[in-house]
This record gives sequence, structure tokens and C-alpha cells, in this order.
Amino acid sequence: MTVGPGAGAVTPLTANIGAHLDGIDLSEPLDADTAEAIRAALFEHIVLVIGGQDLTAQQQIDFTACIGTPVPHPLAARPGMDPDGLCIVFENRPGLRAARNDFWHSDISCASEPPAVSILHAVTVPEGRGDTMFCNMYEAWERLSSGLKALLAPLTAEHDGDALRKRNLEADTDSPVDLDVPPPSTHPVVRRHPATGRPALYTNTFFTSNFTGMTARESRPLLELIEQIATEPDNVYRHRWQPGDVVMWDNRCAMHYANYDYDPGEPRRMHRTTAGGERPIPAFPATP
Ligand code: SIN
Repeated sequence: MTVGPGAGAVTPLTANIGAHLDGIDLSEPLDADTAEAIRAALFEHIVLVIGGQDLTAQQQIDFTACIGTPVPHPLAARPGMDPDGLCIVFENRPGLRAARNDFWHSDISCASEPPAVSILHAVTVPEGRGDTMFCNMYEAWERLSSGLKALLAPLTAEHDGDALRKRNLEADTDSPVDLDVPPPSTHPVVRRHPATGRPALYTNTFFTSNFTGMTARESRPLLELIEQIATEPDNVYRHRWQPGDVVMWDNRCAMHYANYDYDPGEPRRMHRTTAGGERPIPAFPATP
């Protein structure tokens, strides 16, 4: 498959998730057909990797607008490179320890309208470390037995941002402890992707505190089982960063995990933009 005029092939990176796109310069304005083809490739492969990019903050924001509506990161906890805070900096360097994200999660799923697509542009990366892993939550749903599907399909779950405050309390990082997190939200356990129409599991062991009507203690084993199934090795793409990589992922059908295996002070700098999302819609609405 090719994405359009001037663009090369879409090459899958694993059987279940991830594709590489070549022949695109994201610093140039994209024509409508190319932008549409990139969205289609993202919806098909969930994670897209485009290497060799050198982007200003505005160019990254302009590219993000081809994917969705650029919005500030919901936490607004990091320095923005532009006045509206649409392109923010995630950084580890001497004197500045990056916040940990080494847990499987979907970005800010505690928000009422969680981010749809996240886009990272790698500026500086520790060689061979700081990889990011992604898993396919459509496929996770398909891997469940019919019995477990029937149990989960009508459920909702609570997603609580307090997990972020606790994370920041435990570690000496650049992310503030008095973080202004959104209030908890209730989301369907199986959501329907607004573009593909496909059902995807939408829980993660970081933000999801409990299934509605169950305690956290009762919920935890099932949340962990979902994570285990979702992160089976053949359902995961692990990205080893190179400077200049742009990687985007669809939070509505993926979880990710940022490895934290680099040293304090080892330079890692990412520029991040976000395409805004919508309230998750249930894949299997309850019948009255
Ligand atoms: C994240 O978990 O959202 C950050 C990913 C990364 O820094 O690789």
C-alpha cells in the first residue's frame, strides 16, 4: 500500500500492530489525499513510525492537525514550545529526571474525553534504551473467550487520575506532585472506535481503579488478566527510538509502556503533540 503522491510504502512492523511509513517529509504541508491515507494507515496499524524528521513545534502541530484536532496535553504539566502549549517537551537530562511511564496505559484515560492520538518526535534518545512498547487492544478483545466477552461487554469501569499524583509523590521527577488531574471518569470496558467501528478493550491497570459496582480488590485480578492477554509478545510492537523518529499511536485501541531503563541525567528529549478525543462510546450498549 502507498499513502499517496510523494509518499512511499506502508510496511507492517509486526503481524498485529505497527507500521513504518517512508517517503514523507512532515515539515512540508501534506495534501488532503496524503493526510487521508496517513489516517487510514494509522487506523489500520494503530501505531505509525516515520523516521528521519526534523520538525519545529509549529510543523509538528500542523502535522497533528492532519490527524485530528491539536489540543494541549490534558495535564498541562510540562513546558510548551508554543504559546498555546500544543507541543510540549518530555525530557530527561542532568538535573531533570523524566516522570516514569513504565506501566501499561492509555493516555489520560481518566479524562472524560481522553486523547485520541499521541504523537512523539524524538529529538535526543539514549542509545539502545528508553524504548516504548505498544499493544493492540482490538486484538486483546478478540483473544478473550466468549464467556469472558459476555461478562465484560456490558460493563463500565472507573478511571482515576490519582494514580498520577501517587506516581509523582514516589519519584523525584520533573512532574509536579500537585498535579491538576481531571476528576475520575466512567468509561465502557469495551469501546467502539469512532472511525473503524471496531470493539477494543479499554481498561489499563494504571488508571482503571475498578469495574463499576465492584471493589478495587475484586476488580484487580481481572484488570491484570486483561493486561496479560493484551501484552502477549505477539501482540506488542517495541519501538527502539532513533533521533528524528515520529511515532504516533491511537489511544482508543492501544496501550503503551515507556521503558525507564536509562540513567538519571542521560539525555532523552521528546516533543509531544496530542489530537483530541471524544467521550468513549460503548461497543455493546446496554439494551433497555
Ligand atoms: C508516554 O508514556 O506517554 C511517554 C512515552 C515515551 O516517553 O516514550
